[in-house]
Amino acid sequence: MTLSRRGFLGVAGVSVLGAASLGSLVLPGAAGQTAELMRSRARLPEPFTVPLPIPPVARPVRSDASGDYYEITQREASVEILPGLRTRILGYDGIFPGPTIVSRSGRRTVVTHRNELSVPTAVHLHGGHTPAAHDGHPHDLVVPPDWGMAHTMGGGTVTVGQRDYEYPCRQRAATLWYHDHRMDFTGPAVYRGLAGFHLVHDDEDDALPLPREERDIPLMITDRSFDEDGSFRYPALDLAMRVLPGVEDDFMEGVLGDVVLVNGAPWPVLEVEAARYRLRILNGSNARRYRLSVPGVPFVHIGSDSGLLARPATLESLTVAPGERFDVVIDLSGQRPGTELTVENGLGSGGTASVLRLRVTRRASDDSRVPDRLSSVPRLDPVRAVRTRQWRFTRGEAGDHTSWLINDATFDPNRIDADVSLGELEIWRFVSELHHPVHVHLDPFQVISRRGKVPRPEDAGWKDTVDVNPAEYVDVAVRFSDYAGKYLVHCHNLEHEDMAMMATYRTS
Ligand code: C2O
Ligand code: CU
Ligand code: CU
Repeated sequence: MTLSRRGFLGVAGVSVLGAASLGSLVLPGAAGQTAELMRSRARLPEPFTVPLPIPPVARPVRSDASGDYYEITQREASVEILPGLRTRILGYDGIFPGPTIVSRSGRRTVVTHRNELSVPTAVHLHGGHTPAAHDGHPHDLVVPPDWGMAHTMGGGTVTVGQRDYEYPCRQRAATLWYHDHRMDFTGPAVYRGLAGFHLVHDDEDDALPLPREERDIPLMITDRSFDEDGSFRYPALDLAMRVLPGVEDDFMEGVLGDVVLVNGAPWPVLEVEAARYRLRILNGSNARRYRLSVPGVPFVHIGSDSGLLARPATLESLTVAPGERFDVVIDLSGQRPGTELTVENGLGSGGTASVLRLRVTRRASDDSRVPDRLSSVPRLDPVRAVRTRQWRFTRGEAGDHTSWLINDATFDPNRIDADVSLGELEIWRFVSELHHPVHVHLDPFQVISRRGKVPRPEDAGWKDTVDVNPAEYVDVAVRFSDYAGKYLVHCHNLEHEDMAMMATYRTS
């Protein structure tokens, strides 16, 4: 499944533009993952015994004409993830996933984050159309009061104790998420729990007869590995996450766990009625890709990273890379009470081959449906693009060590890798030798083609993260609409991201 070290080293240094010949070399990883498995030492539970938790919806501490105001405290907590064991997490409000924030499109949302951890943090709203100062740049840190400033580099803004993040939320309804984005330490921080949902609602989505309320369910899928005592196992060089970044050499490709958590619970069960459900699927894993399916029940794909599709599409399976979101409806109205269905993972094996169990408990009335027209998604016409920009995602030498590179360079916060004019349509070509889920901040894009051919069904709609495969190039059309500043394009395999697979573009 995973690429062997030898296989990996074999391709390092080969120009990606020789992509066709590379295809055969990278075959071992082609069907699955660019990452290595970290095995649990804890006794793992029987699957489908723990109920699916639904993260609580955060309540604003105040609301007025200027917007809705929230407060979140980042703190350590000890929680029960594996039955009978305790796990230390870093949690927004001490829970994993963090509280779900629900914003109204066009209404300002201000979140005050208080850092009571022992390490700096940066909060990024993934999928947010956010001014640069509030985008959670990896060098814009909130440091604990006793943090030595000497450890803070990179020229960002540093605030002590707490800061406000302001989100104008001038964007359509969508399933967003927020997570830590601290320079060099995003992987371990997210792995230990710093992630939550942030939903944007709007009138258009609300007016559709889609399943709602308790039949509208966010699913954050993450894989984790556990030590004997229940603590998370992660191959960080410095488990305290203070100064020394990085993971053990063997995990440079990314960290896979052998336990699948949904909303923080291992292989949970969701009791459902025989009705339609809207599932907001987020792959919040550091590196693991999934191919989800429910045998006998197709997914009706209704929304992508950045909101509703123009029309629904029926998919038998759904490939989901780290960072991506898919809104789907599953129709369980014909299922008999007592029926059990499993959300399976075609890219997993053993424990990771299953994700979640749906247990149908009773018949129920259901006036929801999926209309043929969901929204209008104006197509960005690639012919009108003013330029094509290439971003090559490779592994190679960086000084005295091997690193992950974009356009042959490691991330340098003081370098501008691209200058982009607001309002101009561009084609961005992501070229890759391995699996790299490529994410662009600020504005969504549309996938135009893969290897010059039609994209996958999963590429439909507005997206902010795209699953780029070994020896592949993916063209997307992007137009940044507003907010001048420095933003990031990066790989959302968090180990790659932490090993400098990021670049800066500047909008003006
Ligand atoms: Cu979800 Cu720049 O990250
Ligand atoms: Cu983002
Ligand atoms: Cu990558």
